[in-house]
Amino acid sequence: MPDQRESAFYVTTPIYYVTAPPSIGNAYTTVAADVLARWHRQRGEDVVFLTGTDEHGQKVLEAAEQNGVSPQDWADHLVATEWMPVLDIVDASNDDFIRTTERRHTVRVQEFWQTIHDAGDVYEGTYEGPYCIACEEFKLPAELFDGPDGVKLCPIHERPVETLSETNYFFALSKYADRLLALYADQPTFVQPESARNEVVAFVKQGLQDLSISRSTFAWGIPVPWDTEHVFYVWIDALLNYVTAAGFGTDSERFDRVWPADVQLVGKDILRFHAVIWPAMLMAAGVEVPRRVFAHGWLQVGGQKMSKSKATAIHPSEIVDTFGSDAYRYYFMRTITFGSDGNFSWEHMSAVYMSELANGLGNLASRVTAMVGKYFDGILPEPAALTAPERELVEKLAQVAARADEAIDRVAIHEAVTAVADFVGTINGYVTEQEPWRVAKDDSDEGRARLATTLYAAAESLRAVAVLHHAVLPKTAAALWSALGADAIGPLADQRVQDSGRWGQLPAGATLTKGASLFPRIVDEELARLRVEAGA
Ligand code: MSP
Repeated sequence: MPDQRESAFYVTTPIYYVTAPPSIGNAYTTVAADVLARWHRQRGEDVVFLTGTDEHGQKVLEAAEQNGVSPQDWADHLVATEWMPVLDIVDASNDDFIRTTERRHTVRVQEFWQTIHDAGDVYEGTYEGPYCIACEEFKLPAELFDGPDGVKLCPIHERPVETLSETNYFFALSKYADRLLALYADQPTFVQPESARNEVVAFVKQGLQDLSISRSTFAWGIPVPWDTEHVFYVWIDALLNYVTAAGFGTDSERFDRVWPADVQLVGKDILRFHAVIWPAMLMAAGVEVPRRVFAHGWLQVGGQKMSKSKATAIHPSEIVDTFGSDAYRYYFMRTITFGSDGNFSWEHMSAVYMSELANGLGNLASRVTAMVGKYFDGILPEPAALTAPERELVEKLAQVAARADEAIDRVAIHEAVTAVADFVGTINGYVTEQEPWRVAKDDSDEGRARLATTLYAAAESLRAVAVLHHAVLPKTAAALWSALGADAIGPLADQRVQDSGRWGQLPAGATLTKGASLFPRIVDEELARLRVEAGA
């Protein structure tokens, strides 16, 4: 149910090129956006979470040609067989999926640029320079590096650039430099994290070049309305997806509710498009800029850059098939500082799975529910007076809930997940120290009361973990919620993170069930196979 905020919490991922199947790199942005979306829903906010595909341009055209099909057929095929299914694979809860070949987008792109054209910010000119098709971007000669035989290579894709020379339409980007610098100063969270902000400010301070916004050497794009010999440059078409999906130009009520976006997540390689070109386009059209553009780092595999040609690109399903979608999400959100580069290895994945999920949360939940089953016939007992160790737990829980919620506002996703993970460790430590299995041997009234208090405290702490881990571990949290008999409080989706730290919500009398283990131990042969694959 929507709460106090009048506007929606709008979170976006970049739209993905339909050139190849997704990798864990692309899915990283999607999972992070999904965690933010689920967290904000759990706050009771009206959330709009958008993702989609980027289907025009030379890069997609090349991929289609290599596969001997039309670009539209190629895009349809990859969307249906890869880009939609991967959302289920990683358990993304997006509210919409936009494709840039959809009419709801193409018509708006034409209108948007016609407006800027008519306002005088578009002119005809000629440009020649090095172009990287993989980035779909003109490069500055100084950015390139020398490959074998002195061939100039793109610093991101390490592949040769082409020299592109064309008479095109240009957007007068350079005249927005001062307004952009004022934006970065007035709205310090516009570009985050701080390192990304500094990079963007330094870049714009050097002065900006105008941007070529059309192409006439190929036709796979949205026609420029005032000169149909040209199609729009893919980036200035693609960036508009964020407003076209929000109802720009068609549904002003929805647009007012959804726009500006609260968080636009991007990888650091596409930061300048989002933090420089995108706000300048919006300024030129008189549209508000997003509240925050957050650049995350790049993932490597086993310390190496992922590359399709070297077959080091991992499809998310390879990991999900073994560990499940929750563990997949947990690994990337918990172990990598959001905003810094990160690494995936099978070894590390299985170590985190075993220690934090199977032996950590999974084992704790199964011990607690099993003991309530064994000592109280599965009915949660009324706790007696709390003693110092329970009071510590109560206090720690209130702090963790507040800290995690505050971290999410800074898009410090790893901090939020880690705070909750640490609390799971605290509960585990509490149970180990209290030794309820020993207390159970004492069947005096005091012994029974002590046992009741300990098991209640552990179960009630797990109730909060289910709410606080729901965003990152949706399936596990739902299973835990039902194992705790917490449906007696209400559905998990209605539990507010803001209230999750308040002690005493799980009612005595609730029915606990042990159920299947939350994180089945992966058998030794499976781990051995993964180690072999990892070359360890
Ligand atoms: N189509 C453009 C985005 C247009 S948005 C208006 C694009 N697409 S992409 O498919 O190449 O990349 C999409 C996202 O995946 C980017 O945020 C990029 O940073 C991310 N990643 C691709 N490989 C990655 C890693 N190895 N690690 C982390 N993220 C990476 O760019």
